[in-house]
Amino acid sequence: MKAEAGSVLITGGAGFIGSNFLRYLMNKIENILLVVDNLSIGRLENIAPLLNDPRVKFFCADLTRDEKVLDFIFWRYSPTIILHFAAEAHVDESIRNPLVASSNYLMTNFLLEKARKYGVEKFIQVSTDEVYGPVPEGFADEDHSLNPSSPYSASKASCDLLCLSYFKTYSLPVIITRCTNNYGPYLDVRRLIARHITNALLDLPLPIWDGGEQVRDWLYVEDHCEALYLLMQRGKPGEIYNISAGNLRTNLEVAEAILRLIPESKSQIVLKGSRPAHDVRYALDSSKIRSMGWKPKYSFEEGLRLTVDWFRNNEEWWKKTKEKVEKELYDKIGR
Ligand SMILES: NC(=O)c1ccc[n+]([C@@H]2O[C@H](COP(=O)([O-])OP(=O)(O)OC[C@H]3O[C@@H](n4cnc5c(N)ncnc54)[C@H](O)[C@@H]3O)[C@@H](O)[C@H]2O)c1
Repeated sequence: MKAEAGSVLITGGAGFIGSNFLRYLMNKIENILLVVDNLSIGRLENIAPLLNDPRVKFFCADLTRDEKVLDFIFWRYSPTIILHFAAEAHVDESIRNPLVASSNYLMTNFLLEKARKYGVEKFIQVSTDEVYGPVPEGFADEDHSLNPSSPYSASKASCDLLCLSYFKTYSLPVIITRCTNNYGPYLDVRRLIARHITNALLDLPLPIWDGGEQVRDWLYVEDHCEALYLLMQRGKPGEIYNISAGNLRTNLEVAEAILRLIPESKSQIVLKGSRPAHDVRYALDSSKIRSMGWKPKYSFEEGLRLTVDWFRNNEEWWKKTKEKVEKELYDKIGR
C-alpha cells in the first residue's frame, strides 16, 4: 500500500540538531515525519517521547549501506522534503580518525541518488560555516571561497559540492544551509559548551586550547530550527544560505560566561597547549536569509542560561555518557 505523500524525511534525527528540529517541526506541521539515524552518536532517548506520536516513524539504519531501508521509506511514504542532518559531525573525532569523514560523502551521495530516483520537492543539505575555513576578519558570505581545515569540514565541503552538482546536472532541487556553532538542549557532552557546563557542574577543570582566543559565532539551536523551517517553505533550489546570530565570542569568553551561570562551581579554567586545525575565527554574513525575514530570537546570554538550566535539570541524560567520554578523551589525548 502506498501512503501519505507530503511526508518529511529527517536524517540524523536522533542527534543534537536533528532531534531539536523534529520536536520543533511536530509543532508546526501535521505531516508524517520520517527519522533515519544509525544511533552512532544520536540517542533514541533524545526523541523517545516523540515516538509515541503516530506521525513519527523511526528507522534505525546506516545511510552508507542500508539502501533497502531508504527504498522502503521512499516507496511507502514518498517524502517530498528531505533535511539531511546525518553526519560524522565531530571535528576532533575526524582528526583522530579521518576515515570516518568519508562516510559523510558516501551517505550524502546515496541519499541524493534516492532523491533523484524517486523525486523530491526539496533536498536541504545541512552544512556548516566550517567549510569556509578561518575568517580572520570580516564576514564570509555565501560566495566566499571554500577553504576547510579539518577532515570533517573538508568532507562537508565535498558534500556541498556534490549536492550542487546534482542541482546542475539533474535539476534536483537542492538547498545548502551553512550554519555557525549551535548550542542548546541535547548537546553532546563532547561539544565545547556541553563539556564546559558538565565539567563546571562536576567541579572539574574547564580546558581551553590555544589561549582561548579562537572566535566562534554561537546560535541557539531553536533559532537554527526556525531558519530551516523558513527555508523548507521559501528556500530557492540551487541556493546557499548562511545562518548566523552574530554572537561572536572567544572560547575563553564562553568558558567565563558558563562559570558565571554556575556560581557554586569550584571549577577553574585551565589553559592547555594547541590543537590541530584550530581555526582562529569563524564569522558569517547571513544577510541573505535575514532579508527573508529570519532573525535569531535568543541572545547568547539568554540561550546559554536556558542551556545551563537544561543540563542542570537533565543530569540523568548527560551523566550516562559523561564518564565514558571523559575517559575516552583522557585515553586518546591525555586531557
Ligand atoms: N553542531 C553544530 O554546531 C553544527 C553547526 C553547523 C552545522 N552542523 C551540521 O548539522 C548536522 C547535525 O549536527 P549535530 O551537531 O546534530 O551532530 P550529531 O552528531 O548530534 O548528529 C548527527 C546524527 O547523524 C547520525 N549519523 C551519523 N552517521 C550516520 C549514518 N551513516 N547513517 C545514519 N545516521 C548517521 C548520528 O547518529 C547522529 O544522530 C551535521 O550535518 C553537522 O555538520 C552542526
